[in-house]
Amino acid sequence: MPYKFTCATKEALERTAAEVGVGIAVSDDISPLARPVTVRGVTAKNSLAVHPMEGFDGDGDGAPGELTHRRYERFASGGAGLFWFEATAVCREGRSSAHQLWINDGNVDEYKRTVEMMHSLSDGAPVICQLTHSGRFSKPDNVPEPLIAYHNPLLNERMTVDASRPVVTDDYLDALHDKYLHAAKLAKEAGFDGVDIKSCHRYLMSELLSAYTRDGKYGGSFENRTRLLREVVKDVADAFADDKFLVCTRMSVSDCIPYPYGFCTREDGSVDISEAIELLSILQKSGLSVLNVSMGTPYYNPHVNRPYDSGGYEPPEHPLAGVARMIDTAAEIKSAVPGLCVIGTGYSYLRGSAMYAAAGTLVSGKADMVGFGRMAFAYPDFARDMIAGEFDSKKTCLGCGKCVQLMRRITTAGCPVRDRIYTPIYMEACGGKENLF
Ligand SMILES: Cc1cc2nc3c(=O)[nH]c(=O)nc-3n(C[C@H](O)[C@H](O)[C@H](O)COP(=O)(O)O)c2cc1C
Ligand code: SF4
Repeated sequence: MPYKFTCATKEALERTAAEVGVGIAVSDDISPLARPVTVRGVTAKNSLAVHPMEGFDGDGDGAPGELTHRRYERFASGGAGLFWFEATAVCREGRSSAHQLWINDGNVDEYKRTVEMMHSLSDGAPVICQLTHSGRFSKPDNVPEPLIAYHNPLLNERMTVDASRPVVTDDYLDALHDKYLHAAKLAKEAGFDGVDIKSCHRYLMSELLSAYTRDGKYGGSFENRTRLLREVVKDVADAFADDKFLVCTRMSVSDCIPYPYGFCTREDGSVDISEAIELLSILQKSGLSVLNVSMGTPYYNPHVNRPYDSGGYEPPEHPLAGVARMIDTAAEIKSAVPGLCVIGTGYSYLRGSAMYAAAGTLVSGKADMVGFGRMAFAYPDFARDMIAGEFDSKKTCLGCGKCVQLMRRITTAGCPVRDRIYTPIYMEACGGKENLF
C-alpha cells in the first residue's frame, strides 16, 4: 500500500492533509465534543456518536445474541452521547445473513432488554434503531438471494447477479411500507429513542434512489425513485408525531457510482448532491429530524465508504481525501438543509488525531455531531477518553480491515486487533486466507 498514516497529533494531521492537498478542519480546543445536542426533546449528552455496525451475531430468530449484548454493553459504557444501533431487518427475506438482527413480534422483548441495558449503562443516551432491507445483498440463509430494484451491470458483476433475475415488483415494494411501519412500532415498544429508515450503502432503499432505468412507479423520475423512502418516512413520522421519538435516516448522499447507476453521481463519477439536498428538504418537512451522512457502498467502493490502509484493493486516492470528502459533503448538506441534525462519518481513519478533527468539525459548524464506527469496535471508551483529554493513540482503530474480512466471511464481526475475543475467531475464519473487502 502506498499510503500509511500514523498521525497522532493535530500538527501531523495538518501536515499530511497539506501534502495530500485536502483541508480538514482541526481544533486544539476539544471542549465542543462535550456539547449536548437536543433534537425534538431527545438529548444526547455530548456530540459524539457511535455509528451502526453489524456484528452478525444475532440469534437465528433475529434477536440480539450473546456477542451482540457484549458489544452494546461495551459501547454503552464508553461515554458517547448517542448510539446508532446496527442494521436490523424489517423482514426475514431482507436479512443480510442468518445472523443479522431482525426485529419481529416474537423477539421484541429481547430488544427491550438490550435497550434497557444500554440506557442504564449510558445514563439514558438515545439509541436509534437502524431499520433495513438488504435488497441485492440479502442472504437470509447465508447464501445470496438478491432482491434487486433494477439491473446494474457494475454491481451485478461484483455480486454475480444473473442478468435474467427478475427485479422486485411494485407490489412487493408497496407491501414494504407496512413492514417498515410495523418494525418502527416494535422499535418504539422496545424502548429505542428513534428509528433510522436506512437509505445508505446500496441496500434496497438506497438502491431505489438510483433506479433511473426501472419502469413503473418506483423508477425513472426523482419522484418515483424517492417514493418508498419519502412515503415510509412520512408514515413513520405521522405515526409518532406526538411522541418523543426521532425519525432519522442514514443516507449515502452520493453513491460515487457513475450515472445512471449511482445516486447523486455524475457520469464521470464526480459527486453532485443536489438531489440529496432536495430529497432531505422534503423528508425534513415530513418529519425527518436527524441525518447520518454516509457515502458510497462497501460492496463497490469501500475506499469511499470507510477509508482504509489495508483492504481488498489499493485505493485510487489517499484515504485522507476520502475522509475530507465525507466531512465536506456533510458540511454542504448542513448548510443547505438548516435545522436538520447532521451526524458526520469518516473519522476512524484519523486515529490519534481524530479528536482534533472531530472538534474542528464542530467548531466550524460542519456537522452537529461526529460519529465513529470502527473506532468503537477497537476502542469502545473513545468518547469518554476524548472528552476527558485522555485519548490514547495506542488504542485506536488502525484501518486494517480485519473486521471487514470477518464480515465478508459471514462470521461474527469485531476488532481482532484490539479486542482479544475476536482474535481466535479471526484466525479461524480468515487466517492465511486472502484479504476480502
Ligand atoms: C464490520 C462493519 C459493520 C458495519 N455495519 C454497518 C451497519 O450495520 N449499518 C451502517 O449503516 N453502516 C455499517 N458499517 C459502516 C460504519 O457504520 C461506518 O460508516 C464506516 O465504518 C465508516 O466509519 P468509520 O471510519 O468511523 O469506521 C459497518 C462497518 C463495519 C466495518
Ligand atoms: S480490525 Fe480493528 S483496527 Fe482493524 S479496521 Fe477493524 S476496528 Fe480497526
